[in-house]
Amino acid sequence: MTQPLTILGLESSCDDTAAAVVRDDGVSGPEILASVVMGQTSLHSDFGGVVPEIAARAHAERLDLCVEQALMQSALTLAEMDTIAVTAGPGLIGGVISGVMCAKGLAAGAGLPLVGVNHLAGHALTPRLTDGLTYPYLMLLVSGGHCQFLIVRGSDSFTRLGGTIDDAPGEAFDKTAKLLGLGQPGGPVVERHAKAGDPKRFPLPRPLLDRPGCDMSFSGLKTALLRARDAQIAERGGLGSTDRDDLCASFQAAVAEVLTEKSRRALEVYLADNPAEPAFAVAGGVAANGMIRGELETLSKEVGVRFTAPPLDLCTDNAAMIAYAGIERFRDGARDDMTLSARPRWPLDRQQPSMLGSGKKGAKA
Ligand code: KG4
Ligand code: ZN
Repeated sequence: MTQPLTILGLESSCDDTAAAVVRDDGVSGPEILASVVMGQTSLHSDFGGVVPEIAARAHAERLDLCVEQALMQSALTLAEMDTIAVTAGPGLIGGVISGVMCAKGLAAGAGLPLVGVNHLAGHALTPRLTDGLTYPYLMLLVSGGHCQFLIVRGSDSFTRLGGTIDDAPGEAFDKTAKLLGLGQPGGPVVERHAKAGDPKRFPLPRPLLDRPGCDMSFSGLKTALLRARDAQIAERGGLGSTDRDDLCASFQAAVAEVLTEKSRRALEVYLADNPAEPAFAVAGGVAANGMIRGELETLSKEVGVRFTAPPLDLCTDNAAMIAYAGIERFRDGARDDMTLSARPRWPLDRQQPSMLGSGKKGAKA
């Protein structure tokens, strides 16, 4: 029989401070008993990106409040937890340290075991929490900080098929919105404008589509958009609302085509293993985009795999995914102690080299 477990999870690797309680009774599947997320958007809005020092301080100030609220929501006490799971990387190091130190204090105080969780594993295991997917499944993690294809084989077994070599798509949406004088976060605003626009008016590039493999690049797309914008301004003396809509539609179509075509290749590699219950899961803020989601869903139908996308509040950063990953890691025998350290980089697939560079939300790992 599977051991029933109730775990408190903590997350503080970027700009969301979060705590959650997840229980898995071993019979009816995992259940989120509480999930508290305190965002920091307003603290960073004047700076055009997340300021690591401000983020770390806010995490340190708010973690215990989040834990208190999560325990209250779950109507449980710390003593009723089986273990504490905490994001130990990758991410902005000050924030990760805040979480790890808080978790160590709680674990020492309550005499509980501690499990350090990889933030990306939290995202990658979420479809098991929400949809009960069985291993192995293909995952596209696509947000403001991440963009990679993973074959998820187990709680600590991942094959990375490829990812962005520069910006994450969410970052590109945000920069596009900025270049067009639209608000932040850019994704939803660009999507709204794109609905009214002509996706064929501006022939933007499809970076790396001409090369084999699943790697992607989005920074050139942003530069191409800037040039198209400036050419319009030079020609007409300014940008009209139709120009803006058409630029948004053309940009979104380029991102969607790159993600869809690279997904087709990743699916080919994944399906070559003959998985028993083939499934493709997409997660991260960009998965909220109706056009991108729709195209990935159509592709999945075409190649005969189940398509799933966790609800948005579990796609974006949260602690329920960390608590759930903690349950799986704990069951697989993972245990940490007071020597657990915070890691700014922590690639999921240890066979692959780390991604170079750092996005606006920290290391891409
Ligand atoms: O997963 P997330 O909340 O945070 C991390 O990046 O970790 O993702 C946020 C990103 C932002 O860059 C935002 O512009 C993008 O997801 N996003 C979207 C949409 N909604 C959010 N991008 C495209 N279309 C959307 N509808
Ligand atoms: Zn994340």
